[in-house]
This record gives sequence, C-alpha cells and structure tokens, in this order.
Amino acid sequence: MGCLLLSSPTFLRLFLFSFISSFLTSQPGFATITRHYRFDIKLQNVTRLCHTKSIVTVNGQFPGPRIIAREGDRLLIKVVNHVPNNISIHWHGIRQLQTGWADGPAYVTQCPIQTGRSYVYNYTIIGQRGTLFWHAHISWLRSTLYGPIIILPKLGVPYPFAKPYKEVPIIFGEWWNVDPEAVISQALQTGGGPNVSDAYTINGLPGPLYNCSSKDTFKLKVKPGKTYLLRLINAALNDELFFSIANHTLKVVEADAIYVKPFDTNTLLITPGQTTNVLLKTKPSFPNATFFMTARPYVTGLGTFDNSTVAAILEYEFPSKTSHSTLTTKKLPLFKPILPALNDTSFATNFATKLRSLANAQFPANVPKNVDKRFFFTLGLGTNPCTQHNQSCKGPNGTMFAASINNISFSLPNTALLQSHFFGQSFGVYSPNFPNSPLFPFNYTGTPPNNTMVSNGTKLVVLPFNTSVELVMQDTSILGAESHPLHLHGFNFFVVGQGFGNFDPNKDPAKFNLVDPIERNTVGVPSGGWVAIRFLADNPGIWFMHCHLEIHTSWGLKMAWLVLDGNFPNQKLLPPPADLPKC
Ligand code: C2O
Repeated sequence: MGCLLLSSPTFLRLFLFSFISSFLTSQPGFATITRHYRFDIKLQNVTRLCHTKSIVTVNGQFPGPRIIAREGDRLLIKVVNHVPNNISIHWHGIRQLQTGWADGPAYVTQCPIQTGRSYVYNYTIIGQRGTLFWHAHISWLRSTLYGPIIILPKLGVPYPFAKPYKEVPIIFGEWWNVDPEAVISQALQTGGGPNVSDAYTINGLPGPLYNCSSKDTFKLKVKPGKTYLLRLINAALNDELFFSIANHTLKVVEADAIYVKPFDTNTLLITPGQTTNVLLKTKPSFPNATFFMTARPYVTGLGTFDNSTVAAILEYEFPSKTSHSTLTTKKLPLFKPILPALNDTSFATNFATKLRSLANAQFPANVPKNVDKRFFFTLGLGTNPCTQHNQSCKGPNGTMFAASINNISFSLPNTALLQSHFFGQSFGVYSPNFPNSPLFPFNYTGTPPNNTMVSNGTKLVVLPFNTSVELVMQDTSILGAESHPLHLHGFNFFVVGQGFGNFDPNKDPAKFNLVDPIERNTVGVPSGGWVAIRFLADNPGIWFMHCHLEIHTSWGLKMAWLVLDGNFPNQKLLPPPADLPKC
C-alpha cells in the first residue's frame, strides 16, 4: 500500500477524491450539524380574554418555542412529560425518510409518552427548506402545544427571491376559555357537535377586537422601504382562515416548505396544517397610519363555528426627526382590511389555482408521470348509532356524529400501528384491506342517501416501495358538503387537479396539470367537489392521512398507508429507537 501511494500520487488523489465525494453524497449528515432541543411539557397559567387557566405547554411558553435548523441538519428533541396527560409531538410536514418512529401521531407511529417519561425524537431534514410547524398529535392537545419549525436553506444557498430584511413567524391558533380536552370528550360522549373556540389568535394573542383583550395584541413593528418575510402557519384546530393586511400587498413565495411561482395577493386562505411564506414590502416612507392584520374563518359546513376576527397591528417606526410626544400611534388613522365573506368558495377556488410549483432546474416539480395505483376516496360526515343508555344522542336525529373515508370511520388501536407492523404483530390491530374506492357508489354530491351510518374499523392500504399513487378525494354531501383540509404524513404530494361536483374519471384526467402543480402536505378538498393528488411512495413506514379539522379527525375522517420496505438498505424503515414509548 505504501509503495502504491509513493509510486502513484495521481491514483492517490483520485482515490481520495472519490472517497470524499462518495462520503459527501452518501452521508446526509456530513457537513451539517446536530441540533439539540429539550421540550419540557408542563402546565402554565395563561390569561386571555380575562380568563386565566392552566394550559399544557412546552417549557411554559405559549405558543411553544421555535425549532430552527438548516436543510440537512439532524434534530434530537427530547420531550419530557411532566403533565397528567399522555403526550406525543408531530413534526408536521417533515418527511421523516426512514425515521417513521419520530413522526409522532399517537397510536399510529408511537405509543404516547406517559406522565414522567421522555422520548427523543431523532430525525434528519432531507431535501426540505421553508416553514413547517410542530404540534401535539393526541386528542385536542395541539390547541396549546404548537410552534414553528423554520428550516433555512443550506449554508450559502440563497432563497429564490430577494433576501428579506427580517423574518417573522405569524402563527394562527384558537383560544378556548374552557379546557378543549373537556370539549372534545363531551362531544364524543353525547355525539353532538363540539363547542367552538372563543377567539382566534396571532402568535398566541387574540387582539383588540375581543373583550378584555387589547393588551394582548401582536404588533409587527416595521421600517419603511424594507421587505419582510412572514412565515404564516395555521395551527388552529378547526378553522380555515382568510388573512389580510390593510393597504398592503403580499407576495406568496412558498407553501408547505416548497417554493412556488411568486404571485401577489391582498388576501390569503390558509387551512389548518398549511404554512405559507409571503413577502411584505413596506411603504417607501412613513405612512402616517397604522394597519390591521386580520384573520377570520372560511366556513362551508352546517355546524356552528367561531365567527370572530383576530387582529394584529402593523406599525411603522417613527421617522427619527419626529418626537414621540407630538406623534403617537394612537392618533394615527387605523386601516382595516376587508376579508372575503365567511363562505366565499369562489375566493378559495381562485386562490388554490394561483398556487404553482416553482418548477425550475434547481427546484423541479418531480410529478409522477406514470401511475401504478389509482385510488378514489370519498370523504365526509356520517352517523353512528347512539351508545348512551336510555338517552338520545345529540347528533343528527338522536344519533352520534361520525366522519369517514370510503364510509369507514377509522378507529385508533390501543397500541401503535407501526410497532405492530414492524414486529409482525398486526393481527387484531389492523387489517390491510382499506378499499380502493367506495364499496357502494352513489351520487356523492347529489341528494344524500337516506342511510348515513358509517362502518368502523382500522384498515390500511398496503403499498409496495416506490409505488406511484394517484388519489382522488371526493367530498360528499352527507350532512352537508364541506371543505376538508386533508393532510398526508411522510410525503409531499402534487395537486394535479380539482373541480366541483362528482369526479369524472373519463373527462377530468385530461385536464390534470403535470407540469407545475403545487406540491404540498395539506390540501383543501373543495366543498362539494374533488381534488386529485399524486405521490411516490418512496418512504417506508405507516403514514397517517386525515382531515386537519380536528373535530373531523376525532370523528374518524382518517386512515393510514403502509409503505413496505424496498430492497436496498436506504429503502428500509430503520429499527425503532430504544426509548420508544410503550402503551
Ligand atoms: Cu398536523 Cu397528523 O397532523
């Protein structure tokens, strides 16, 4: 060897070069770093709208702390549970390639973390940059357990748009004067619709349009003539939101941590589970005014909802000449944005069609061109028989509300699906026979059938590794057509088509966009319509798919995909970590 080295320096150089470059390309962690976070789950007293209550938080913060990382970084997040509730945390939109054990949905990829226990979520961010968020994924605990995930591009890699002067997360949530855990447990017991939230929040603050709330207003202080990157996140439980800033235009540049073709808009629609990055260009000089930034819901269903409006304030820094005593923000005129009507579906449709992948050489849209397997799922509400003894339930005609996919209302097992799969113990836990299409076809968006009963079960679709999937999701009019923000774990998908009424398999596919469709992890299925998505099942594991309106998930509008291992080592689910919680 020594002789070879001495006699052949060229060979050595070539050898070293190929060794290092193969090391670089085969080791995603190389030249990146490991970031450690600690999440202590604890109770904290918080007051909003003059109501003080003890809420479940991460490290006493509400909203929770930001996770900041770069593309390629590895994250080790130790979650320690100091509260009476079972806990699990989901890293919404993170692909979790081969690391499904760190995905977080309780009873799907892990048993929850019990009181006094801890679990280290261990994963690497591969091929993603932008805004995502983390949230609890058990019962309704995400009402207070949520926070931003900010993934910066690799060091030295610029954004595909002008570098912003500052970046600000804007996270939408809901505030409840009562305990949301009591709200959902009561709703599931009586079978009726749940009570609604008392306020929406921006960065945890409801703002001045609510009683006893003026002091709890988020203020965005800006300088004139600068560009700000706002990282918008909808972490609300049950409501899609319109958002607008008075007298300002927003440029949409990213959605669900995917760059998009930039476009300008005054108003945005963001569903629970979605994130949107926008550029805000401030006025060239001090405008002698302040501006409201407001959000309120987009609602299509028949149930009651929180129709209130959250406001934050966009405030310009005073020019240095003016003294604050002569000019205060109180005296400045305040402009308010005009938001679309609460049921403005045509705005929703228009906005959805503006979103396109950037689809350039650096950030291509790798839309699956051939489809191995086609699926047609109906989604919507339904009913279950009343289980309350000698009483009638509070759902439709004395029944209990349910929700389903292909008329199956999904029940979570009391162990974790992924564990039972990995250890070959799935018998009695789940069955691998989720139907590819509804067993009893009907006119999905026409007059609903008389029988609205769902069936209940824990059924999965099984996919061989690298299957390319086309899935059409069809809203139904059972108990009212309604828009459903569907979220798929473990993958991004391309939204290749959408429309109203019933999907037509003969005519609609011809209109699919396979060139620059938006790529995302959560899509709004139009109220009384359908959406078609495509994805490549290149991530082995069990991946939850559900409506991100939490009440619909609670009622059963959820299912899971089991993606089998491929042949090569980097196509297999890694073994479970030693500290994986037990049920
Ligand atoms: Cu953001 Cu399964 O959820």
